[in-house]
Amino acid sequence: MSISSATDLANGTVLVTGANRGIGQALVEEALRRGAARVYAGTRQPLTHPDPRVTPLPLDVTSADQIEAAADQVETLDVLINNAGIALYDDLTDRAALERSLEVNLFGPYGMIQAFLPHLTRSGGAIVNNVSLMALAPLPLTPAYAVSKAATFNLTQSLRALLAGRGVRVHAVLTGPTDTDMTRGFEIPKASPESVAQAIFDALDNGEEDIFPDPMSASVAESWRSGPAKALEREQAVFV
Ligand SMILES: NC(=O)c1ccc[n+]([C@@H]2O[C@H](COP(=O)([O-])OP(=O)(O)OC[C@H]3O[C@@H](n4cnc5c(N)ncnc54)[C@H](OP(=O)(O)O)[C@@H]3O)[C@@H](O)[C@H]2O)c1
Repeated sequence: MSISSATDLANGTVLVTGANRGIGQALVEEALRRGAARVYAGTRQPLTHPDPRVTPLPLDVTSADQIEAAADQVETLDVLINNAGIALYDDLTDRAALERSLEVNLFGPYGMIQAFLPHLTRSGGAIVNNVSLMALAPLPLTPAYAVSKAATFNLTQSLRALLAGRGVRVHAVLTGPTDTDMTRGFEIPKASPESVAQAIFDALDNGEEDIFPDPMSASVAESWRSGPAKALEREQAVFV
């Protein structure tokens, strides 16, 4: 089944990475609530779920072997949600922190997309990369994280152009502060993971390529969509 921008998830097949907690867990529950036929839940630790539509997948996104095994196990896929991520506190003096951030947050989604592209091409499906508002402007408390998210956003923009001809849509989620383990200790207003998951699927239904799923990110959505960087992305996309 192909999920077009005009339809919802009902009877579709979704894979979520980092599905055991935070936004990933909320995405799994929201996909089930919307009637997904199968939800593949990628996790590093074994997962059990009471809903028989959930198929756990052992999936560390830094493991090429686990990604390959997951791609072999999944028969059809409509929506790949690259959600797994890490955020390290650093000050850019530690090269290892930058490398680890890129390994998980950039090369994780990259590896997943390469492995699942045949499935998504067959289904005319969609890729959803849970990036971050920090792709647009860093919070310098987590600069290596911000670098990795900016890179993943740029990857998303290129893949959007490169895969359009194959009928695969590529979405970026420019998520703002959300109340999960990742933001524990930050005393700022945060959206709930459940509301973010709902907003992501609503935006997919509406065909929004860049998704702003919480109040803070939503406050920049209009200026992003009508701004010069977005216009340039569209102008340059015509070259492929
Ligand atoms: N929370 C926010 O404010 C916020 C804002 C913008 C963007 N985001 C993005 O949203 C996504 C989810 O974040 P969250 O807030 O839900 O964070 P979280 O609660 O810390 O959850 C992170 C998830 O990623 C998984 N993960 C980490 N490294 C992994 C790896 N190598 N392979 C597979 N899974 C891995 C974790 O699994 P384990 O349990 O095994 O560690 C966990 O399931 C991330 O990409 C994050 O950057 C979050």
